[in-house]
Amino acid sequence: MKVLVIGSGGREHTLVWKIHQSPKVSKVYCAPGNAGTLSMAENVDIRADDINALVGFAESEGIDLTVVGPELPLTHGIVDEFEKKGLRIFGPNKKAAELEGSKGFTKDLLKKYDIPTASYSIFDSAGDAKRYIKEIGMPIVVKADGLAAGKGVIVCHEEKEAIKAIDSIMVEKVFGDAGDRVVIEEFLEGEEASFMVFTDGKSVLPMLSSQDHKAIYDGDKGPNTGGMGVYTPAPVITPDIFSEIMDGIIMPTIEGMAAEGRPYRGVLYAGLMIAKGSPMLLEFNVRFGDPETQPILIRMESDIIPIIEAVIEGNIDKIDIKWREESSVCVVMVSKGYPGSYQKGKGIEGLEDAERMEGVEIFHAGTRLNQGNLVTDGGRVLGVTALGIDIKEAIRKAYEAVSMIHWEGVYYRRDIGRKALLKTKLKIKN
Ligand code: AMP
Ligand code: GLY
Repeated sequence: MKVLVIGSGGREHTLVWKIHQSPKVSKVYCAPGNAGTLSMAENVDIRADDINALVGFAESEGIDLTVVGPELPLTHGIVDEFEKKGLRIFGPNKKAAELEGSKGFTKDLLKKYDIPTASYSIFDSAGDAKRYIKEIGMPIVVKADGLAAGKGVIVCHEEKEAIKAIDSIMVEKVFGDAGDRVVIEEFLEGEEASFMVFTDGKSVLPMLSSQDHKAIYDGDKGPNTGGMGVYTPAPVITPDIFSEIMDGIIMPTIEGMAAEGRPYRGVLYAGLMIAKGSPMLLEFNVRFGDPETQPILIRMESDIIPIIEAVIEGNIDKIDIKWREESSVCVVMVSKGYPGSYQKGKGIEGLEDAERMEGVEIFHAGTRLNQGNLVTDGGRVLGVTALGIDIKEAIRKAYEAVSMIHWEGVYYRRDIGRKALLKTKLKIKN
């Protein structure tokens, strides 16, 4: 079977790595890919959002299965276009991808099906939004309705921050049309966790729970990024909370989407806040998380291809996923300046030694080859991912590998996994 993976980040390198191991797969392509995908796939020079060119490539190359990494082609309807041509593709169609494409759509769906989430109001006029802000007081969260490359959410502790957020989203239109509407939400306090499932629109297969670290600096300080590191499992997701997530959030969403005439197929990612011991939905993503995919797929023992095929064919109730017992941690190494502006083209050293470590995989994100030399080519550069007998061992191994790798201006958080470690220690003491 020939498989095409769409995207160029750490998530896509991980998907290529996992798909390439399947005995059912003869060749993997990645569009556009990075220097990491090159060693197991043929990189194809087509952008992830160039849907026409991707359809053309899949047809002419006889691709048997396409797996979409990022949200943009999904919300633009890549699945609909592939299916029109009879091409097999993994992911939700355009109507189902609204779960990530419009925060307003999602909030209304959550309300209709009584799914726990922060209370909210939606506005399409800046004046009304500002009046509301003055009325309800702080803290609040202002969200651009549409896709804003992960930057459209502003947590506001002061009124003037909230007014500024409305001006930049709705008046200056810094996110374009994505700011035609805003959602203004109650601020929730608690601990965040990520929870992903495979679903064929009827049944659900959960993956492992995990916890991302969104802020750039240690101690969750500084601006938000795409994600600076993840560990799995997340001890904050206790067995009781797991059941609440499945019964109170995931299943009602899947059933609600089907009832709305938008059956959902693919990976559904729930970004959760565990607030006062109960899970609340912060956001849905209609794709695998990045970097959640790195430490989760490193623990997946099963072949991923039969799972993907079962999602497309609508029979995942017949499938089980086998997971490795170990814990895993992914530490993301980034370019200095990220998530703001940064330089590219810095030579990366020490990768071969780190790659030789047992139970360590290094997934590339922003990398490319420059005359045979590996150089940085993005904000998030590498996801150093390690398995360990427990979270402590996985953290130790990931950071040992990280310490072997260097480039000018490299930065990473030093505290990935610390929260899980503290929880585990507390449990032992109790
Ligand atoms: P989202 O893209 O909606 O997940 O928001 C990005 C980040 O903003 C989340 O990971 C949270 O850290 C924060 N956030 C979003 N909504 C809320 C909320 N209602 N209360 C507190 N923090 C939030
Ligand atoms: N790690 C957050 C995301 O994939 O959106």
